Amino acid sequence: MNNDIQSVLVSEKELDEIVTGIADKISEDYRGKRLLLVCILKGAVVFMGDLMKKIKIPVEIDFMKVSSYGNATVTSGSVNILLDLHRKDLADTDILIVEDIIDSGKTLSYLVEYLLLKGARSVKTATMLDKPSRREVDFTPDYCGKTIPDEFVVGYGLDFAEKYRALPYIGILKPEVYEK
Ligand code: IMP
Ligand code: MG
Repeated sequence: MNNDIQSVLVSEKELDEIVTGIADKISEDYRGKRLLLVCILKGAVVFMGDLMKKIKIPVEIDFMKVSSYGNATVTSGSVNILLDLHRKDLADTDILIVEDIIDSGKTLSYLVEYLLLKGARSVKTATMLDKPSRREVDFTPDYCGKTIPDEFVVGYGLDFAEKYRALPYIGILKPEVYEK
């Protein structure tokens, strides 16, 4: 295990089982629809890659990037769109936003509204992790891998200061790593 990790919160095996379960539900729920998966860069990229392989109906994919925490472990509050969708007509498109983790809820509640305003027929959300104890705005994801306590976690796409994204499991970072 990586030396900066205190403990493993979600193992590779558990991640695989979670993704399979979510993909099966999505395949059922979106049968016959035009599904567009929108990955929120960069944190959701690993979840997105695994999820799209396991969904059994045709999907299209796209990417958005929003402002992140930078190097801090607390939320900055405002949401800036750094990379947007460039699709002309979303009227016959059902969007599923794919996210790594929900913390305050601000990112996803903003993006759902934003994509509905852009004309998408429906906008739902899938997140690997949820920290409900951190919520600042009321928000409930449609698909959620695992609810976790208020710990700063890394791996499976999630970073601290751009590090640890490639770890194949989700781990709790040793506090001394971000406190120094
Ligand atoms: P929200 O708008 O506060 O819900 O922000 C969610 C975003 O915060 C996620 O997409 C992550 O980029 C980041 N984030 C929140 N908690 C963690 C964590 O424990 N580790 C790494 N990134 C986190
Ligand atoms: Mg993110």
